[in-house]
Formats: sequence, structure tokens, C-alpha cells
Amino acid sequence: MTKLFVTGGAGFIGSAFIRVALEELPDCEIVNFDALTYAGNPDNLAGLDERRHRFVHGDIADRAAVMDALEEGTDAVVNFAAESHVDRSIASADEFLRTNVLGTQVLLDAARARRVARFVQISTDEVMGSLPEDDASFFTESSPYAPNSPYAASKAAAEHLVRAAHHTFGLDAVITRCGNNYGPRQFPEKLIPLVIANAIDDQPIPVYGDGRNVRDWIYVDDHCRAILQALRRGRAGEIYNIGARNERRNLEVVEAILDALGKPRTLIKFVKDRPGHDRRYAIDPTKVETELDWRPQETWESGLRRTIQWYAENQAWVARARSGAYRQYYAQQYGMEIDVRR
Ligand code: NAD
Ligand code: TYD
Repeated sequence: MTKLFVTGGAGFIGSAFIRVALEELPDCEIVNFDALTYAGNPDNLAGLDERRHRFVHGDIADRAAVMDALEEGTDAVVNFAAESHVDRSIASADEFLRTNVLGTQVLLDAARARRVARFVQISTDEVMGSLPEDDASFFTESSPYAPNSPYAASKAAAEHLVRAAHHTFGLDAVITRCGNNYGPRQFPEKLIPLVIANAIDDQPIPVYGDGRNVRDWIYVDDHCRAILQALRRGRAGEIYNIGARNERRNLEVVEAILDALGKPRTLIKFVKDRPGHDRRYAIDPTKVETELDWRPQETWESGLRRTIQWYAENQAWVARARSGAYRQYYAQQYGMEIDVRR
């Protein structure tokens, strides 16, 4: 795998993947194709080796632009590009369908036309819906599709299109499904960076509902190393669920961050629940562990420590991310202004 076409590489996980791939595949060259939406950030690419990483500004739903940028001889397309936030999909689903569904089909068509050897679709455990609380059930690769949010439905649709391209046209395609990622450079609309940024600024921490929803958390670089294994060794047509066996209730996550920063729990503010809020996600990662010989390297404690430290040391990144548009989003989503310390 030497020539990679990575989409969404200016976002949180895509940029982490590019760092991991450049390090672990010393011969690889990467074209990073990204539309730079609100979530895409050129700062996330600072320090990358420019001889091996080339940024192309483009939209995956724009067929001509994709065909232009995707060269013959590309070994793999790795598709991270997506609208990724559940709350935004509840407010309006249009962009989710355009990017996540149509954009994936455009990439599949282009990959076939350019005879790309392999297609890796980055998906999510959310396509399988919600698990019952307090039992020992887990998502496996054969769990039924049951997406509950417009975001999850769009990602499930994308998986179906990837499956169809493999089945109908013989495209060599692999799907990876991960749980909730955390780590440096995650846009502060998602729970962990939002809590860290607000806590540093002594701002209220909005917790939806009773705060007892469960997510299965994984440090972003561990996810990226698993994707690399799927890219190199995954079997065509297969799905790999990726998880670090790390289920936590939201309140536990929030309290761990407040404690690490020495901030009072009185910052927690229970707010109206997310409509259709999935109760529990939990992944059985046996297949990726055994078939692809992958294990996470970070523990929850070490990963969270690294993450909090990164945000504390990169306040300028946080300030830029929380621009005017972010504040508008925040006010609309939470019904409260954010008072950001400089
Ligand atoms: P993100 O929102 O941080 O980044 C998405 C990136 O895609 C941005 O750089 C954005 O500019 C780009 N993008 C959006 N629309 C585009 C378009 N039409 N054309 C080209 N680029 C476009 O998202 P993330 O958290 O890094 O997630 C990356 C992928 O991983 C997504 O496919 C998401 O569904 C999946 N995923 C995320 C998580 C998670 O916890 N964040 C978990 C499982 C799977
Ligand atoms: P999020 O980071 O949006 O990821 P996802 O919805 O894809 O799991 O949310 C993680 C959990 O945290 C989810 O149960 C919703 C909850 N949450 C809050 O309680 N408050 C918030 O402000 C946000 C953004 C999320």
C-alpha cells in the first residue's frame, strides 16, 4: 500500500490516520481530499511531511472533482469524509445525505473507474442502533442494522452502497465500524472535547437526560492502527468492528475530566435529552483482535490524560474552533451562550 487517497483527512480521525499511516508505512504517499467544512481544519495537518502528503480541496459529492483528483495507480481509497455529528443531523439531515450517501457512491464509482485496488469505508457502531442497558449484549459484525438517528441512517446507507459495489462489481471493499473516538483535534461539538474546553473556561457542562447513557470509548490512534490493519490485511467484503472494551456512562466521563482538571462537579448542568438518544453502545472486538492481530495501546486513563493535556496546551486551536459559527450553533443547540475566556 503505497498510494493512498484519504478523504476527510482534515478532520479529527482522518488527520490522525494520516499521521499514523505516514509513520507506519514509510513508503506511502497520501492525497488528502477534503472539503474543509466547519469540521475540517488545515491546522490539523501542521507538521506533516509535504513530500508524502498532498492536500486537495474538494467535495466527495462532486464527481468531476473526485475524478480529477483520483489517479490511476492508487492502491486504496480510505473514506473518512462525512458529516459526523448526531445533533446536527437531528437539526437538519440534508448535508448528511449528500455527503455520507451520495458522496460515498461517487467515491465508489470513481474507485472502479480508476481501478483502485481497495476501498476502505470508515463506518460507525451507530448503524446497529442501541443496546439494552445493564446486560451483557454486544454489537458484533452480524448484528442487524437498526440506525436510530439521521446520521446513523446515512452511515448505514453508505455501508449498503459499499456492500453493493463489492457484490455487484467485485470492488475489493472493507468496512470498519468503530465506537466513540476521543483524542487530540476533535471538534468541540462532541462530548469529550466540549467538556474539556468548557471545564477549562469554568463554563457549564451540558449533560443530556440522566447522564447514564453508555458509550464505548477508544483513543483515536488505536482506531487508526486498526484501520491500517484492515487496509493491509482485511478480507474483501468483510466488516470489522473496532472497540477497546471500554464502556463508560456519560456522567463517569464528565466527572473524570472535571476531577483531572481540578474543577467542581457543580459545573454539570443537566439539560433536555437528545431526541431518540441511543442508550448504550458496546462492541465485541473479537474479530479485529484475532483476525487482524490488533490490540489497543492506550488505556482509558492514559488516553484521557493525553487528550486533556493536548487541549490544555492547544488553547489557540480551541479558540479558533469555537468561532462565531460555533457560538451560534452552541446557542441554538443548548439555549445558552458560551462565555469563552481568552
Ligand atoms: P469530523 O467531522 O471531525 O471530520 C470530517 C471531515 O470530513 C472534515 O475534515 C470535513 O471537512 C470533511 N468533509 C465533510 N464533508 C465533506 C465532503 N462532502 N467532501 C469532502 N470532505 C468532507 O469527523 P471524524 O470524527 O473525524 O469522523 C471521521 C469518520 O469516522 C466519519 O466517517 C465518521 O462517520 C466516522 N466515525 C467517527 C467516530 C467518532 O467518534 N468521531 C466513530 C466512528 C466512526
Ligand atoms: P457525542 O460525542 O455527540 O457522540 P455520539 O452521539 O455519536 O455518541 O455524544 C456522546 C454522548 O454524550 C452521547 O450519549 C450524548 C452525550 N452528550 C451530552 O450529554 N452532552 C453534550 O453536550 C454532548 C455533545 C453529548
